[in-house]
Amino acid sequence: MPVITLSSPKGGSGKTTAATLIATELAEHGATVTVIDADPNRNVLDWSRLPDKPHNLTVISDVTEETITERIDEASEASSFVIVDLEGTASLMTSYTIALSDFVIIPVQGSQLDAKQAARQIKLIKQQERLVGRSIPFAVLFTRTNPALNPKTQRHIEANFAEHAVPMFRTRLYDREAFRAIFSFGGSIRSLKGKGVSNLETAQSNASAFMAELVERLRNGNQTPSVKEVA
Ligand SMILES: Nc1ncnc2c1ncn2[C@@H]1O[C@H](COP(=O)(O)OP(=O)(O)OP(=O)(O)O)[C@@H](O)[C@H]1O
Ligand SMILES: [Mg+2]
Repeated sequence: MPVITLSSPKGGSGKTTAATLIATELAEHGATVTVIDADPNRNVLDWSRLPDKPHNLTVISDVTEETITERIDEASEASSFVIVDLEGTASLMTSYTIALSDFVIIPVQGSQLDAKQAARQIKLIKQQERLVGRSIPFAVLFTRTNPALNPKTQRHIEANFAEHAVPMFRTRLYDREAFRAIFSFGGSIRSLKGKGVSNLETAQSNASAFMAELVERLRNGNQTPSVKEVA
């Protein structure tokens, strides 16, 4: 079943946050999900040891360069979705994982420095495409954006990506306390209810829209969905 990878050489771009949000959203919609935590910092594994992890979501972390391809194959046989959270630096693990992915999400914060790293990541995906002889769908995901603002830098970066026909998620992940809080309290945005975290409802609808767009892109061959489909 689909293997979705979060990858970007830029540290702190939001890979782990996005990976955990998709995984919990999919699990809460009834899908069986395996997250492969391929980052030696094991942030998703730590999250999974906190309370309220959905029962149909499994996290595995004992992966190495030698075992990653086998682990991905096993996980995709066992689960409806496999999410791989990669570490920031390029490695053989990154290359192998991308080669086996059905979709690669490249999180980018709205700065030119992040955009440059995303361009490197896209080059790596293109190289893997040549090696495996098939296209590997990918899209840039803007993260930690301000829901009330669309700053000039952000618009400039988007225009640049558009000029080079780089696919971009229509949904952005806003900067929300709830997206940090799941790593303190565990569980999902839904299970944060009653814990005093602000703007939970807007965070929930943002996370749901992100998951819906991803599922739509997997279904429709990575076309950008219309505004109506995402809303
Ligand atoms: N949408 C968001 N809203 C609020 N905080 C966020 C959001 N995305 C990421 N963060 C915060 O930014 C920091 C980096 O995010 P995260 O760990 O997801 O990035 P990463 O790309 O996985 O980093 P690394 O390269 O170190 O693995 C964390 O403190 C996280 O809580
Ligand atoms: Mg991470």
